[in-house]
Order: sequence, then C-alpha cells, then structure tokens
Amino acid sequence: MGELDALFASNRAWAHAMKQSDTGFFERLSRQQAPQFLWIGCSDSRVPANQIVGLAPGELFVHRNVANLAVHTDLNFLSVLQFAVDVLGVRHAIVCGHYGCGGVGAAARGERLGLIDNWLRHVRDVCEKHATLLAAIGDEKKRVDRLCELNAIEQAWNVSQTTVVLDAWKRGRDLSVHAWVYGLEDGLLRDLDCSIANPSEAPLRRAAALRALGAKP
Ligand code: CO
Repeated sequence: MGELDALFASNRAWAHAMKQSDTGFFERLSRQQAPQFLWIGCSDSRVPANQIVGLAPGELFVHRNVANLAVHTDLNFLSVLQFAVDVLGVRHAIVCGHYGCGGVGAAARGERLGLIDNWLRHVRDVCEKHATLLAAIGDEKKRVDRLCELNAIEQAWNVSQTTVVLDAWKRGRDLSVHAWVYGLEDGLLRDLDCSIANPSEAPLRRAAALRALGAKP
C-alpha cells in the first residue's frame, strides 16, 4: 500500500499548493471547462500532454491511446472528438506522435505482443503505405522515428476526414487539425507542417507534409 499512499500524499500537497497560488482555482474549474485544444496523443508515460505544452487543468482536452491513432470506427475516439468539437468548441485538434514510440516500433518490426497487435495493425498499414521510403532508411531507430512522423500525419488526415470535423467545417466552424511529434530525448515538439483548416486544402496539406519527409503521398 506504501506506493499508493505516496500518491494520495502527493495529491494533497498538489491540491494545497494550487489553492495557495489561486484560492478560487478548483471552485472555478468545477463550474465549467473551456479548453481551446484537443490533444490526441500516445498513452506513453513519458509524454504527459499538459506538462509538455505548459497548459493548466481546464485548458487541454485529452485523448490518449497506444500510438496516437485516430481510427474511423473507434467509438471512444469519435466520442471524444465530437464532444470536444461540438460541445466544448475547441479550435485546434492536435495529433501528437513521439519519437521512440514503443507501439510504432513493435508495428515496424512486426513483433507479436498479444491482443494489441490488432490495434497496431493500423500502424502496419501506414508502414506498408510508405514501405519504399522506410526500406531506404538503414538505421532502425531512424526508420521507426520516421514512421512515428508518417503515422502522426496519417492520423491527422484521419481526424480531418471524420464526419465530426467535415460537418463542423460545413457549418463554418473555425477548426484546424495539426500533426506534431515530440522528442523524448530533448523534450521538444516539432510541427510536421500538416495543419488542415478546411476540406479543400486537406489533401494538399497531407501531400505536402508527406513530401517534406521524402514520402510519396
Ligand atoms: Co508511443
């Protein structure tokens, strides 16, 4: 129980410190949240969404899964997206991959880990789509990192093609989808230049971002 007791102790200290710096913090947040950003990231414990972009509770709506996938039939992801866009009114949906992603690496190597292989099959699809580019990268770490970038772009494309986003654009909503990648080794984010703000530019943005990585769209 010791390890868990430590979590409660940390929580009490954190809540106390937050109240000390802003007496109305929890009372205000309990009434409403108004985040501007939706984060779709990897479950990896080394990629804590709020911390790496310096956003406080209430400022970032978060969805995380292994390998930051936006799967067209994933009701969990679609519900998060729809709630974020239609109810909360976020203005940016950010797909953030990260270098050294264990899920992406396992997919690249075709490892068998169990049930999760079926989930990572979506990354295998990205891998096969860009097989020529990836095969030309001799160093395995670099190859997996490139796949992490390609995967973030393809998932941002998937987000842009959901009924949720297409319908929001049809209603004239100001909404952009982005693809970023985070470096575990330096703590820095890179923009993969795949920001999509309307349906007509979506294929062009995806193609340009893929070309910048040396891939054929
Ligand atoms: Co990961």
